[in-house]
Amino acid sequence: MEATREMTNRKLIAGNWKMNGSLSANEVLLKALLQGAQPACDVAVCVPAPYLAQARGLLADSSFALGAQDVSAHPQGAFTGEQSAAMLQDFGVRYAIVGHSERRQYHGETDDAVAAKAAAALSKGITPIVCVGETLAERDAGRTEEVVKRQLAAVIHVNGHCISEIVVAYEPVWAIGTGKTATPEQAQAVHAVLRAQLHHAASQHAAGIKILYGGSMNASNAAELLFQPDIDGGLIGGASLKAPDFLQIIAAAR
Ligand code: 13P
Repeated sequence: MEATREMTNRKLIAGNWKMNGSLSANEVLLKALLQGAQPACDVAVCVPAPYLAQARGLLADSSFALGAQDVSAHPQGAFTGEQSAAMLQDFGVRYAIVGHSERRQYHGETDDAVAAKAAAALSKGITPIVCVGETLAERDAGRTEEVVKRQLAAVIHVNGHCISEIVVAYEPVWAIGTGKTATPEQAQAVHAVLRAQLHHAASQHAAGIKILYGGSMNASNAAELLFQPDIDGGLIGGASLKAPDFLQIIAAAR
């Protein structure tokens, strides 16, 4: 099975800019990335919603995919401040992050809401990057496996018929923006749990579902994380805002 995975799974390196950027800074960053990258992997940048049009223009004719950081669970209507999957589709968005821990924490997103957002994305042909991950308190209490399995189970329950179309991102909350990366062994252990759960839900497709690691991935630790058998790429926050760092991570993904 490993051989099959290696043959079919190009790695995916996705930048999550979070709430950072400006018209001028985005242009400098994207031009530097396009000039410097010779990716042997898939690359995506998930930009703030107001910059989708700008990024789409700058990325036109490149191999980089455009991503959003969230998507509404609803198709349209009175949902002030939200963006529908159809709107994202209008801008050529290929990926939408759903269930990022910052949305779960600051916006009260439940497992069910995340599952509905994944469904909304899939309905418009947008690949949801479904984030799961435990807090430090949950890890210390030995609950890591239980938490990530519960989070993924909600998404599988609602999207089981097209579960092979999703991307999963394991992002331990304690590693996000803290400089404390999970060790390759810690990350691989959780990725193997998630892979087994996907295998249960979609046996013949599980090997092809990308499971990304996110949480203080940077130019110096990317290679050893990406070397792990069940780590199919990265979801990168801070380091995706610095062209030389993001380029090194892209180069490490082969
Ligand atoms: P950092 O890479 O800044 O730790 O952020 C990770 C993350 O949250 C990506 O979605």
